[in-house]
Amino acid sequence: MKVTEDLAELRSLRAAMNGVFGLVPTMGALHAGHASLVSRARAECRHVGASIFVNPSQFGPGEDFNNYPRTLEQDLALLESLGADLVWIPSPEMIYPPNFQSWITVEGVARPLEGASRPGHFRGVATIVVKLLNCFQPERAYFGQKDAQQLVVLRRMVQDLNFPVQVVACPTVREPDGLAISSRNVYLGPAEREAAPVLYRALSAAKEKYDTGERNAEVLRDTMRTIIRAEPLASEEYVSAADPETLNELQQIDGKVLLSLAVRIGRARLIDNILIEG
Ligand code: PAJ
Repeated sequence: MKVTEDLAELRSLRAAMNGVFGLVPTMGALHAGHASLVSRARAECRHVGASIFVNPSQFGPGEDFNNYPRTLEQDLALLESLGADLVWIPSPEMIYPPNFQSWITVEGVARPLEGASRPGHFRGVATIVVKLLNCFQPERAYFGQKDAQQLVVLRRMVQDLNFPVQVVACPTVREPDGLAISSRNVYLGPAEREAAPVLYRALSAAKEKYDTGERNAEVLRDTMRTIIRAEPLASEEYVSAADPETLNELQQIDGKVLLSLAVRIGRARLIDNILIEG
């Protein structure tokens, strides 16, 4: 496995790799969720690349950029054990030099949900992902369904900007009690960790209603709200039952629906979702 910080070196190592190249962009602090993306890429591609970069521009003021977990040694060991070929660890100065002034802004689908709660977040995500696609030139790029809106935004961007890359969505990896695995779960104290499966419980209860025939989206949102509000350590930021492509809130469901929510537990802000394919 080749590891480099240098862009010229990355480009020349990449250029020497013929055949399908799969990229897994990450912010490090790698866990089983990231590992599932790398394994999927390993199974589907001749060469597998990963990036580790805690992207400052996707964190808002007062968010956890400074405290975001950084575990580089372990991350590299995991990537090596999973069979990655090429890892780029760029410096912030290289990605955002002093005179940097070109940003990617996705409009409609980046506005609601996470976009409304975290202004500027998707501008940071879209910009770094475009830079990673330009630098790695992958045929395939792997992202987790865990960040459902990020996937929708990046799919839109790749299509709008004609990137010759296939975006691959990978299922959310969960702890045995349902909690979606996240680098931010380390912020949870013991009691908070016990409370945290409430997100998946709320989503599962709404899905259960759907499965037994409920098609009123407000009833599904209410089901999630009631469960989150019953957990004293949790405070709801939003609950949503939206069209999975436009991310507009639905009233009546007559096809697919994306159930999603953002909840604060202690100093952790957790998100989760279930996609119902209809
Ligand atoms: P990060 O949070 O490190 O996640 C990297 C990738 O792993 C994302 O595609 C995310 O959806 C996926 N992922 C995280 N937890 C997962 C889980 N439990 N199951 C399945 N996949 C999971 O997302 C980002 O970084 C950044 O926004 C990035 C795309 C790298 C741009 O900076």
